[in-house]
Amino acid sequence: MVKNIAVIRGDGIGPEIVNEAINVLDRVAELYGHIFNYTDVDMGGCAIDKHGDPLPTSELKKCVESDSVLLGAVGGNKWNDVPGNMRPEKGLLRLRAGMGVYSNNRPAKIWPQLSSASPLKKSIVEQGIDFIIVRELIGGIYFGEHKTEGDTAIDVLTYNEAEIERIGRIGFETAQKRNKKLCSVEKSNVLDSSRLWKKVMHRLSTEYPDVELTDMLVDNCAMQIVKNPAQFDVIVTENMFGDILSDEASQITGSIGMIPSSSLGASSCGLYEPIHGSAPDIAGQDKANPIGTILSAAMMLRFSFNMCEEANAIENAVSAYLDAGYRTADIMSEGGKLVGCKQCGKLIRDNLEKG
Ligand code: IPM
Ligand code: MG
Repeated sequence: MVKNIAVIRGDGIGPEIVNEAINVLDRVAELYGHIFNYTDVDMGGCAIDKHGDPLPTSELKKCVESDSVLLGAVGGNKWNDVPGNMRPEKGLLRLRAGMGVYSNNRPAKIWPQLSSASPLKKSIVEQGIDFIIVRELIGGIYFGEHKTEGDTAIDVLTYNEAEIERIGRIGFETAQKRNKKLCSVEKSNVLDSSRLWKKVMHRLSTEYPDVELTDMLVDNCAMQIVKNPAQFDVIVTENMFGDILSDEASQITGSIGMIPSSSLGASSCGLYEPIHGSAPDIAGQDKANPIGTILSAAMMLRFSFNMCEEANAIENAVSAYLDAGYRTADIMSEGGKLVGCKQCGKLIRDNLEKG
């Protein structure tokens, strides 16, 4: 198959980790006889420097017209003082909205090889950590009005029933493919938008009788994720709660550097990115962990290109790399063999085999 992939290298460690993911994709193409064409897209701080805009319309167009988008990371201290609507992160938010990718899927799964890297007690880790956070991605407080007037700042949080329903359906469908347990997370003891969220989820649940729906307040969920993560199968929640809970969930699996994500909307053109940031403190030093990006590329193959065998091959290659004891600094522990970003990518690429 021929696929056109828009590539956003971005800022900080973005270019390094994306390079490794592309090397892996190129090897997949060789092994399975596909052709992947790459189009570079400027977004984030580097786009502010080059075009004076974190995501010029022409760059967004390249993404919308592609078969899928692979993204490293954007942002950095250099652009901290630019106005809010010109920040690198604004480029990312415009990209998500412009592509209409309302459903963000963030797995929290512990690799058995890394169980000692989890900060949780062994007795908790042994019960298993394997859940998915389905995060609404293009609504809520991120996309409401933002303004500052004198000594008052305002951010508006809005959801309507249609927005809740479409992400709710993804939550139920994701649970149907797994252990059929869906936990809807909100703050209905305080927020109107959360009361509407809960009402819509329960209305939808009548259409998915095979899925067990539970409700949880977001503060309690933050606690339960560290106390008893084994209880979760699929969590569905609004934009900002999902942002916070997915960072928390990543930590209990050992390293945020390992976690990929997919974002999809109505079409098969998705946005694939690791959930970590641009880590400017280690940028350009060949220290970053490219696995989150490599696994995001695997998700792209599975969810957007329907290349499941190829995606499995990448995940197996990552697993074999971990089995062999190689570790980037973020997941290094006693007895591990320390490698840099490039070597990590190369070892995974060399492990790739046609299944
Ligand atoms: C994430 C990030 C982004 C978000 C930032 C960079 C805008 O934290 O993808 O989780 O808040 O969505
Ligand atoms: Mg985040």
